[in-house]
Formats: sequence, C-alpha cells, structure tokens
Amino acid sequence: MHATYQAAADIDVITSTASIPGLGMVPINAFVLHGPQPVLVDTGAVIDRDEFMTALRSVIDPAALCWIWLSHTDFDHIGALHELLAVNTELRVITTFLSVGIMGLSDPLPMERVHLLNPGQVIKLGNRTLVALKPPVFDNAATMGFVDDTTGVLFSSDCFGALLSAVPESASEIPDDELRQGQVRWATIDSPWVHKVDEASFAKDLRAISDLEPTMILSSHLPAAPGDMTSRMLAALEATSTAEPFVGPDQAALEQMLAQMTSATPR
Ligand SMILES: [Fe+2]
Ligand SMILES: [Fe+2]
Repeated sequence: MHATYQAAADIDVITSTASIPGLGMVPINAFVLHGPQPVLVDTGAVIDRDEFMTALRSVIDPAALCWIWLSHTDFDHIGALHELLAVNTELRVITTFLSVGIMGLSDPLPMERVHLLNPGQVIKLGNRTLVALKPPVFDNAATMGFVDDTTGVLFSSDCFGALLSAVPESASEIPDDELRQGQVRWATIDSPWVHKVDEASFAKDLRAISDLEPTMILSSHLPAAPGDMTSRMLAALEATSTAEPFVGPDQAALEQMLAQMTSATPR
C-alpha cells in the first residue's frame, strides 16, 4: 500500500511501509520535487512498482518529470526506474558512475540519458541548485544524496532511517526514545561497518551535516524530519559505532518462526 503526503509546499513524499518480522516497520520513501524541472528522487521498490506508479501519478504526470535522482541501486530504490524511462523518453537520470556500473549488470541505463555526478559537485535544475553529498552512513558504495540549496532540504538516501513501531508522516511524532533506538538499530543493520569506523573521522562527517543546518531531512527510510531534529538524529548516529552489532536470526530461529506460522494457520 502506497500513500503520498506533502513534506513541503513543493515536495511530495511517495511512501510504502515494509514490515520486518521481529524488528519493526520501516518506510520506503521516494520524493517528487515540483518546479520548472521536476525531479523524482528514487523510484520505489521492485516488488511493488505498479502501486508506486499509481501513487506517483496522483502527484505528478510522469511525462512532466525531467529528472530522476537515483541515490543508489538497491531494490527499494530502482523499482519503477526503467518503466519511467520508457514512458518518458526525455527523462534523464542523475547518479554516480558506480550506480551506472551496477545497473549494467542487470538492466543497463541508456548512457545518453545519464548525468554523472560526484559528491561535492553541483547541478542546477531550473530554479534549484542541488549539491551532491555522501551521507555519513550508507549501505551501498554508489550512494549519493544532496542538499537542495534553494530550500535547505537534505535528501539523505538511507541515512537516518529507523525501525519503528508505526510510521507517521512526520518524524516529530515519534517518541524520542523510540526514534533513537530505531535509528541505532537501523544503522547497525544497514551499515554494519559503522562499528569499525575511526570515531574522530565519523564525528567529522556528522559535524559536516550539522554545519549544513538542513531545514528538513528527507530520508528514504524515515518520515520527513523537520530541521530542529537534526542534532538529536546526529547524536543517535554517533551512538551507533559503539552500539551492539546486529546478528540476524539463524536457522534455529527460522524453524521456530515457520513452526509458529504453521500452528497459527487455520486449517
Ligand atoms: Fe540501500
Ligand atoms: Fe534503501
């Protein structure tokens, strides 16, 4: 089930919720930036791309889109990518060299429709200037987020995601403790390398986000977060390097879950 909501006057969120057994719920977000050159940030999950397209059409005609910002190539970000390129032949994809390479192993992107960018570089799209950046945590080496210089909104890709008990439309509705724990849990699962980082170097990356003073943080896996939440969301990330590492269910746990499901199934 997809839903849409407005995060700002010119930004729509297209969201679905994934339920992860035993861990909680996580939103899967894509974003439409309206304006003279509309941008779609990511394209939903592969498994429900038809529902994603329906939700997208409720906020913009796909033929009106000018750009897709592909933050990385994971299955929860590339769902409707090729369908959109097919229905809108003018649409171009802003992404990294590495994303293009990874897509080339399954469903290659047409190179003449790619605009390559690196973190630190800038692209001007109509009235918007997007400044590409590498978020402090990520699960795919190709990851690239950005700041919209015009509005100060940070698009952080998977960074700042959280496992939650419910998914509201604003992160400000999540109790502080739940958000912190959910963020720490997500980061230890999604970016397990965080336990190996040099803490001073990681703190520097977190400070760089703080220095941006984002007016809002839009994560692929968290409801829209107003800018006044930035410092506590960064504090949660800072806590991840020393948090308990995630260990997934093993075969014994799987068999237990399957047995529970079988006994709960009506005959
Ligand atoms: Fe990812
Ligand atoms: Fe993701």
